[in-house]
Amino acid sequence: MTEKLAIKGGRRTIPEGAIKKWPPIDDVDRKMVMEALEGNVLTTGPNCQALQEEFAVWNGNRYAITTNSGTGALHMCVAACGCGAGDEVIVPAYSWSSSATCILHHNAIPVFVDIDFDTMNIDVDRIEAAITPRTKAIIVVHLHGLAVDMERVTDVARRHGLKVIEDACQAHGATFKGKKVGTWGNCAAFSLNQNKCFCSGEGGMFVTDDEDLQEKAKQLWSFGETRTPVEDRDYHAYALGWMYRNNEIIAAFGRAQLTKLDGYLEAQKANAQRMTECLRGVPHLLLPAEPEGFEHDWYNYTIRFDMKALGHEEDAAAFRDEIMKALQAEGVQTAVWQRFILPAMTVFRAKNGYGKGCPWSCPHAAPVDYSPDNFPVAQKHADSHTGMTTPLRAPNGPEVAELVAKAFGKVMKNVDQLEDLE
Ligand SMILES: Cc1ncc(COP(=O)(O)O)c(C=O)c1O
Repeated sequence: MTEKLAIKGGRRTIPEGAIKKWPPIDDVDRKMVMEALEGNVLTTGPNCQALQEEFAVWNGNRYAITTNSGTGALHMCVAACGCGAGDEVIVPAYSWSSSATCILHHNAIPVFVDIDFDTMNIDVDRIEAAITPRTKAIIVVHLHGLAVDMERVTDVARRHGLKVIEDACQAHGATFKGKKVGTWGNCAAFSLNQNKCFCSGEGGMFVTDDEDLQEKAKQLWSFGETRTPVEDRDYHAYALGWMYRNNEIIAAFGRAQLTKLDGYLEAQKANAQRMTECLRGVPHLLLPAEPEGFEHDWYNYTIRFDMKALGHEEDAAAFRDEIMKALQAEGVQTAVWQRFILPAMTVFRAKNGYGKGCPWSCPHAAPVDYSPDNFPVAQKHADSHTGMTTPLRAPNGPEVAELVAKAFGKVMKNVDQLEDLE
């Protein structure tokens, strides 16, 4: 039956206000934030200390350092792993920009590896071919909350003497073979920004089980000093330092949210499961996978459109945008997460991070090839996906997943109505 799409003047599927905002705020958050605000310390203090201890316990790490962003925590990983001038670090060709710019932050050179279409994660089969005598580390990104096959990655790393850094910014609670992300590599970074499953507004977490890496990361975190602000500082910069510390108000909010995180993640899994059940059978959708042995955290429920079947392989990104606008008109909060693959971003294309060609012109560096044509799978993914975060999050329940799936069904069954859009 033909139904007029909302974008064509039909009735929208999801009523205004049906999707609740993220994250839910309750009296636990209010109490802890107000207590922090009224305390004596606003900078790094007891809440920061407690947050990192509580997160280390929650994730199963020996050490955690609370930071003001996931990007700061990633930079700490790169530095702690000893990556420096001219060293190469392997990273997937599709991710958030700072999964790769964190490598530049320490004067090292990103080497991109294409992704696997099904998992959307780095194609582990291609990692070995990207290793050179200058390779120091592999950054894996557990994209959208699906873990990378860490047994295979750590095996490659062990054989080549490389460090493994986990970008777990999107993957709180995700597991591979029952073991949480952030406990597989040498160290890992989490983000706690507004959109993340564990949210404190902004913020991040560096984690490791290695005391030496923890010491190196801590030095970079606070001005190159060896003592933290809660210790007796000598205010001496022993090494190159940044300022990636967190503060008490954010940390108190993070601690409040952490008490609710397991419940949020359970709700998210149930919602994702319902979404998948309802979307099965909707034409031309490629639904996200959760292979055997992997437990997704469903940070982002990412759907690809089958552009070949739709007859839009040539103008995939433009047609995807039309479908997305039609979904948005039906009330679905969906968006393209990253439209550009990393090697196509100007910061890498221009090879001029610090000016004068640095760090690529460093005498210790060798040429690297960032031609986007080398990463066709990442490009296909970038051009054909749309994703959702808030509709799957608490306090939204399975009824929201059902509504979203209904809207997808309506748009995809009437997709011919989009063909004549300007
Ligand atoms: C995969 C990935 N890596 C790194 C980051 C950076 O985290 P932050 O925004 O906390 O710096 C993000 C955040 O969006 C991310 O999604």
